[in-house]
Amino acid sequence: MARILITSALPYINGVKHLGNLVGSILPSCAYARFMRQRGHEVMFLCATDEHGTPAEIAADKAGVPVETYCAEMFEVQKGLCEGFGVSWDWFGRSSSAQNRALTQHLAGKLDEAGLISEVEERQFYSPTDGRFLPDRYVEGTCPNCGYARARGDQCENCTKLLDPTDLLDPRSAISGAKDLEIRATKHLYLRQSAMRERLREWIGAKQDWSNLVSSIAYKWLDDGEGLQDRSITRDLKWGVPVRKGDQPWPGMEGKVFYVWFDAPIEYIASAAEWAEAKGLPDSAWRRWWRLDEGAEDVRYVQVMGKDNVPFHTINFPATIMGSGEPWKLVDLIKGFNWLNYDGGKFSTSQGRGVFMDQALEVLPNSDVWRWTLLSNAPEGSDADFTWGVLQTALNKDLADVLGNFVSRVTKFAAAKFPSTSGAPSAALPEGGAPGPLEAELTENLDKALTAYAAHWEALEIRKAASELRAIWSLGNDYLQRAAPWSSFKTDPAAAAQTVRVGVNLARLYAILSAPFIPEASGKILAALNLPEETLKAWPKDAASALTALAAGHAFAVPENLFRKMEDSEREALEARFSGGAA
Ligand code: MF3
Ligand code: ZN
Repeated sequence: MARILITSALPYINGVKHLGNLVGSILPSCAYARFMRQRGHEVMFLCATDEHGTPAEIAADKAGVPVETYCAEMFEVQKGLCEGFGVSWDWFGRSSSAQNRALTQHLAGKLDEAGLISEVEERQFYSPTDGRFLPDRYVEGTCPNCGYARARGDQCENCTKLLDPTDLLDPRSAISGAKDLEIRATKHLYLRQSAMRERLREWIGAKQDWSNLVSSIAYKWLDDGEGLQDRSITRDLKWGVPVRKGDQPWPGMEGKVFYVWFDAPIEYIASAAEWAEAKGLPDSAWRRWWRLDEGAEDVRYVQVMGKDNVPFHTINFPATIMGSGEPWKLVDLIKGFNWLNYDGGKFSTSQGRGVFMDQALEVLPNSDVWRWTLLSNAPEGSDADFTWGVLQTALNKDLADVLGNFVSRVTKFAAAKFPSTSGAPSAALPEGGAPGPLEAELTENLDKALTAYAAHWEALEIRKAASELRAIWSLGNDYLQRAAPWSSFKTDPAAAAQTVRVGVNLARLYAILSAPFIPEASGKILAALNLPEETLKAWPKDAASALTALAAGHAFAVPENLFRKMEDSEREALEARFSGGAA
């Protein structure tokens, strides 16, 4: 038994997430956590809302509520939606927690002690009307390069030129439109990441199991001078973790907060502390996951995220943790995902383009359909496209025609021909005849497939795991089709009984194997088969034992229809409803 720590990139608080966020971190990390738990490992699966920073302040302003209230509400919304998708964290925390505040201040203090913090004076726009400094993207003006009138302080959207806000002609506040902007000098703390280049290189160099996607991003940032520049870790904002050196004030930093990207990853650790507090456990309970000197030596730590997050997790966060000089657990495997596109274009939160988590559950409440569709088409090796046609195929073909149909055919036939003597549940597993060549062939194929399936999960190869599972479902249908118990029943009832025994055992096996992807359907199959939830942990040793797990006489029922197919007309209606930005 191993100990596996899993974190999913923290969803930003400002609004409901779309399917791209769901498939890029939340669902794969959940499925992986489920698999690892089923294998009997001790799993700690953590996530949280990422709550600080300007976008949260602005969203709260728009909603007309204090930012604390806005975050508290959106936290509940996001938590509820994730639960609706069957997400199985051990804890879903908040980066605004007291634990994260304390740990962020503590680590900043340690970095300072290690000589890795410097103070730098910056010149920034201050807006007296808004009563605040304006971050780059909240200054708008005319592009000095192309004359576009609505260029943002970080980049001109029209000609793509990277800008400094002070380059803009006729600058104004994007928040209020105020033009009376002043340039003020303000001091910020910088993390001297450049001093850690060699340590980072050595650490990254030892990671043999990172994908090309992840390592190439890591090396690009390591080698390219810009990536490892010392970066500012403080901001002139109100909402955030106040800048302090541990529990001491930080002279000259009064009224400033840490930059959101400094405190957010620290919440990976702090969320475990939140978990321990909520469960009434001592600090040692969470520290054994995170401190190498308190038990985390034997933890394997896996992070899951979209590719835009990779630089922060390969360079910036490790620099924070290593630089502290304290023995915190560093990530072992980073799993990065590409983009999920919506009908050939981008999902866009600002333009409302695509499908958002609340809408998804509203139009199709069976979250297993979403989990299977998204995970089996995950943007793993390259970007992928979500279309309603992709969903319809995943639902109708894989889930309904292959898995659902198999389970329903075999259990219905069993209930009709081998009714239980006691009435309900409706069927009893018959004494089978001797296994024949069909069973031998099935066992052989299944053995290979089981080995491959588990190996894909171990390597976190989601699409390969999905294809293998699909193939395993198909083996059952092929077997049933060829064994044809409905005809053999009349001439050779022992053979039909054998097929039913194997078939019902396959249904049990499918519930176990499918649970990382479609936990709800797995639960329904197990319930109908009159088996406890712990059955999920009975991961098969090999095909032969899996096909004989349920003994003769075991009573069970026919599960309700697992998946309802989607008609073409329904698909067309959804396509129309979610076309362009109209949603
Ligand atoms: N909120 C960020 C995003 O949505 C991800 C933060 S991940 C963490 O891109 F590491 F900072 F927590
Ligand atoms: Zn321009």
